[in-house]
Amino acid sequence: MPGVSATDHGDQGDHGAHGDHGDHGDHGDHGHYFSSVPDASSAPASVDLVLPDLHLTLRTDRGVFSGTRVDPGTKLLLLELPPPSEWPEGPVVDVGAGYGPIACAAAVRAPDRRIWAVEVNARAADLCRVNAAAHELDVHTVAPDDVPDSLRPGLIVSNPPIRVGKAALHELLETWMGRLLPGGEAWLVVQRNLGADSLASWMESRSWQVARTRSRQGYRILRVTH
Ligand SMILES: C[S@@+](CC[C@H](N)C(=O)[O-])C[C@H]1O[C@@H](n2cnc3c(N)ncnc32)[C@H](O)[C@@H]1O
Repeated sequence: MPGVSATDHGDQGDHGAHGDHGDHGDHGDHGHYFSSVPDASSAPASVDLVLPDLHLTLRTDRGVFSGTRVDPGTKLLLLELPPPSEWPEGPVVDVGAGYGPIACAAAVRAPDRRIWAVEVNARAADLCRVNAAAHELDVHTVAPDDVPDSLRPGLIVSNPPIRVGKAALHELLETWMGRLLPGGEAWLVVQRNLGADSLASWMESRSWQVARTRSRQGYRILRVTH
């Protein structure tokens, strides 16, 4: 599909919070972007992911996270992520892949690595498959229930779903941090005003090591190990 300019309206951005203010779910007409089957009628579009080392046009839709532009936090995470030569050994997993900007960028950068995209929203997961196929990228996209027990990531790269609520977010992170291979790392982007610091403190309370590698444009990039 030709590059269609991304616009910044009608964005189903992440309006939740990890802090003490509770979670402000999206109860608007379009339902939650993390619904397994979004209510929103389909309105296909595309966005451009432009980074110094790659340019991907990606298909998007209504009812998926940040469908009208690549989320600035996602872009910052991809800018800050070290090069593949510095990634720990093992599969790379994008937890909450959406339409696939992180997973597809990882596959471009590291074509020899096994890249997994895990996404609960079926429309987003389909888009992720379409986007990987369109760019001939080897991305294995699955629903959370279809993740094989044997999958042990060396690297997790994620813009996590803050809006699912604190309890569900903590469970998700516990699950995936528990799967990490020894020496593995998780790189996360979290908006500061959605509770990045309280999430970091919670992770530290689990005895995970949290390095705040970058703080920019209202986002924190966190490198988490255990
Ligand atoms: C903040 S969005 C990031 C999407 C995409 N990675 C991006 O950067 O544009 C988080 C994603 O996590 C998904 N999600 C929510 N709960 C999930 C779960 N338990 N397992 C996998 N994905 C989940 C949501 O549907 C959403 O697409």
